[in-house]
Amino acid sequence: MLKKIKKHSCDEGGVSGEIIHGDNLLVLQDLSKKYRGAVKCVYIDPPYNNGEDYSHYMDNREHLEWLSIIELRLKLLRDLLADDGSIWISIDDGEVHYLKVAADKIFGRENFVTTVIWQQRTTRENRKAFSNNHEYILVYAKNFKRFAAVANKLPGTQEIIDRYKNPDNDPRGPWQSVSANVQAGHAVPSQFYEITSPSGRVHSPPNGRCWAYNKARMDKEIAENNVWFGKDGTGVPRIKKFLRDKVIKVTPETIWLAEECGTSKSAKKQLLKMFPDETVFDTPKPEELIRKVLSIATNPGDLVLDAFLGSGTTAAVAHKMNRRYIGIEAGDHIVDIVVRRLRYVIDGDADGITKVEGWRGGGGFEFLRYTAD
Ligand SMILES: C[S@@+](CC[C@H](N)C(=O)[O-])C[C@H]1O[C@@H](n2cnc3c(N)ncnc32)[C@H](O)[C@@H]1O
Repeated sequence: MLKKIKKHSCDEGGVSGEIIHGDNLLVLQDLSKKYRGAVKCVYIDPPYNNGEDYSHYMDNREHLEWLSIIELRLKLLRDLLADDGSIWISIDDGEVHYLKVAADKIFGRENFVTTVIWQQRTTRENRKAFSNNHEYILVYAKNFKRFAAVANKLPGTQEIIDRYKNPDNDPRGPWQSVSANVQAGHAVPSQFYEITSPSGRVHSPPNGRCWAYNKARMDKEIAENNVWFGKDGTGVPRIKKFLRDKVIKVTPETIWLAEECGTSKSAKKQLLKMFPDETVFDTPKPEELIRKVLSIATNPGDLVLDAFLGSGTTAAVAHKMNRRYIGIEAGDHIVDIVVRRLRYVIDGDADGITKVEGWRGGGGFEFLRYTAD
């Protein structure tokens, strides 16, 4: 049973999320009826089973025991996912391949989306045979086709925007050019003609191709300065596409670099700045990394779930991005760290993704505790 704990809740400004203290197996079983098919994105960052003894939790189970713990949770999480939802699982080299095989069985190989590689470290670890600088995020959809139809593209990077130039000082601003000829497969006769460039050079479409427009339209585009013949006016005609007419969105790539997504060290630094008096949480994820996950997998108002909440990164990011959220954590640091962190967020903290999201504070959350009766 889940019981609201008033003194740890902060719900005067409304409720954007639920923070739940308890073992995630029991909590997920409890949530299974209410939230079945309702969660748009699950992000989990379970203990990696790397033999460490962290200040807030142990990470050294026997391999098969670890695997069966994860499998049980994945099955429950799958049932909570919406039909167009997805699950993103952080993991490192030690268990990634075993986890992939187990997750394939639970979600179906046809629903495997990708493996993201996150550059979690930028410095070289010289004491080891190899300096391990990356982790993985395994991504599965509840239903691959449905997820692919709704997954968001990402805003264009500066590098993409910089590809637009303005060599002719066009008052409409920077542009890129694309070919003015297209495959002739479905061409009509009016797409085959000669174009005379400003320098007098005559161009015909190459073999097997035709012009993208008929002659009347092409003449209009040339008159409106929408066709580029190169600086000296002799080049093969190309069509100008203006930056101002574009909403630049790009397909996410699978290598996520530290300069965009932060590192384990930068995440720890953020926590240390927030809680200088607290034993630092050893394995937080950077807010920027989770922002990228939620930017692809969700839209404002969608429900996000993290069943291994740790220091509360997913809840903090979901809150700042106006997503609803559920966070589950077994450790007592849910009070000392997560609740305090979310109170900062509500007060409009200046850290993590605050600036890029234009976050100014507000909202609230409920704190619940799992009890057996
Ligand atoms: C790697 S940390 C997650 C870090 C988190 N992503 C962050 O940014 O802070 C894993 C967390 O899962 C919690 N955990 C482990 N087993 C759990 C269980 N059965 N139920 C709920 N939480 C659990 C641990 O206490 C730990 O805080």
